Amino acid sequence: MVEKQLKAMFFNGSPRKNKNTAQMLESAMKGAQEAGAEVELIHLQDLNFKGCVSCFACKRKGNTCGGLCIQKDDLRPVLERILEADVLVLGTPVYFSFATGMFRNLMERLLFPIMSYSRDEQTGGQMLYLHKRLQTAIIYTMNCPNEEIYNQFHYDTLLSQDCHFMERMFGYCEQLNAQNTWQFPDYSKFDANLIDLADREYTRQHQWPKDLQNAYDLGKRLVEKAKEQ
Ligand SMILES: Cc1cc2nc3c(=O)[nH]c(=O)nc-3n(C[C@H](O)[C@H](O)[C@H](O)COP(=O)(O)O)c2cc1C
Repeated sequence: MVEKQLKAMFFNGSPRKNKNTAQMLESAMKGAQEAGAEVELIHLQDLNFKGCVSCFACKRKGNTCGGLCIQKDDLRPVLERILEADVLVLGTPVYFSFATGMFRNLMERLLFPIMSYSRDEQTGGQMLYLHKRLQTAIIYTMNCPNEEIYNQFHYDTLLSQDCHFMERMFGYCEQLNAQNTWQFPDYSKFDANLIDLADREYTRQHQWPKDLQNAYDLGKRLVEKAKEQ
């Protein structure tokens, strides 16, 4: 029997195409490739698209959207490819305690067309317009230096919401964080004395390689899980 070629898609929600979030995604991509998947990385910054415009075409009775947003822009063909993929990894920096605006625009356009406002007569649960199991994950990178501040800003609750919705639509979602990230090439050139530079340097040397390894393992694990489904 010929094994199906698995497809894994990766999205960078940072405007920076080669910094922390991109590097985590590239590492996850290597893991996914190692596990045998065909991979694609998309920088949202390169696409011209907006969030949901609330047209509700996807909620009309008898609609034939099949869980796909009808708005025609750069995102539409990308959404089509996501719905055909097996693994989906979204990465974003934390901006003011949430994902970035472009990441949220993607979430609105991806998830809203899949969920309906009706109950499924058979299961009693929320009816979905698409029944597609995808192995998904969200990678967050952030300044936040430690667990104390993470909890103080309620990131445990705030950041887990995106994963919660992904899990509801696609059946599985993991969250991976990288904290205390290296933001500027040379901190001496920036007004940033709130940042404990020694602590950040320590993180860069000792934790960041582990974060990248965690991302690699995540990519590999999701593809292995997709093989089992
Ligand atoms: C506009 C803006 C807002 C930010 N807000 C937060 C924040 O609320 N919490 C946090 O921990 N880091 C915050 N950061 C830091 C970034 O999340 C962090 O540096 C991230 O790793 C950057 O990802 P990148 O290197 O892929 O661009 C912010 C950065 C920017 C530019």
